[in-house]
Amino acid sequence: MSDKPEKFIDENGIRLDGRRVDEIRPMTVEMGVLTRADGSCYLEWGNNKVLAAVYGPRELHPRRLQRPGEALVRYRYNMAAFSVEDRIRPGPSRRSTEISKVSGEAFEPVVMKQFYPSAVIDVFAEVLQADAGTRTAAINAATLALVDAGIPMKGLVAACAVGKVDGQLVLDLNKPEDNYGDADLPIAMTEDGDITLLQMDGNLTVEEVNKGIEMVREGCEQIFAIQKAALLERFGTAEEEEVLED
Ligand code: CDP
Repeated sequence: MSDKPEKFIDENGIRLDGRRVDEIRPMTVEMGVLTRADGSCYLEWGNNKVLAAVYGPRELHPRRLQRPGEALVRYRYNMAAFSVEDRIRPGPSRRSTEISKVSGEAFEPVVMKQFYPSAVIDVFAEVLQADAGTRTAAINAATLALVDAGIPMKGLVAACAVGKVDGQLVLDLNKPEDNYGDADLPIAMTEDGDITLLQMDGNLTVEEVNKGIEMVREGCEQIFAIQKAALLERFGTAEEEEVLED
């Protein structure tokens, strides 16, 4: 028997979890949570719990994988066996391999790889608890873990999905919206607004995609603000924090 809700949005425009259609779930981040990694970040977004760890830059072995003029950035997205309702079989899957590839590419324009020729920068994103939107949650955590590791970057990357339920576009899909909705469009972008990841599942018109991208831009603005507040907390001076509070 399907547990698909009859309606996802009520007559006041409120979703099942109490959000408006253009509202993201509450997000909290904490940087520097792992002492053995060069950089790390723990992120909660709604009921998603994600840990990102960065190792490097360090020498890449085997040497035949080295890139003479730049570092290789490797991104591994992994779901813990206990992160979902049905246990996930440990080890890579087609899904996690695909997510790892496109998520790593989402950082291409920002990571200044030319400073570390022949080196490798490893990004591990571990999903501890999944509740829809884990690839975007992992990207949001990985950005901060990269900064925490001292990797030079041109800016931050933020990610958020938009989808469609009850004929309306909704930002940052929750689990029922992801499971039973008509579309899922995860997007990552730089602070300049350049889109570095865009995937689509389901059916949307060109107009809906364009409107969805604008909704994601608004969502990513909020995520950049959360990321910057975390950076200030970790690296800022007391004076700077006072300015932020004023
Ligand atoms: O997590 P994300 O939205 O990036 O990816 P998805 O493939 O659209 O999966 C949506 C959600 O389905 C995940 O966040 C998990 O909660 C759940 N899922 C699951 O229960 N078992 C899987 N093997 C994959 C996903």
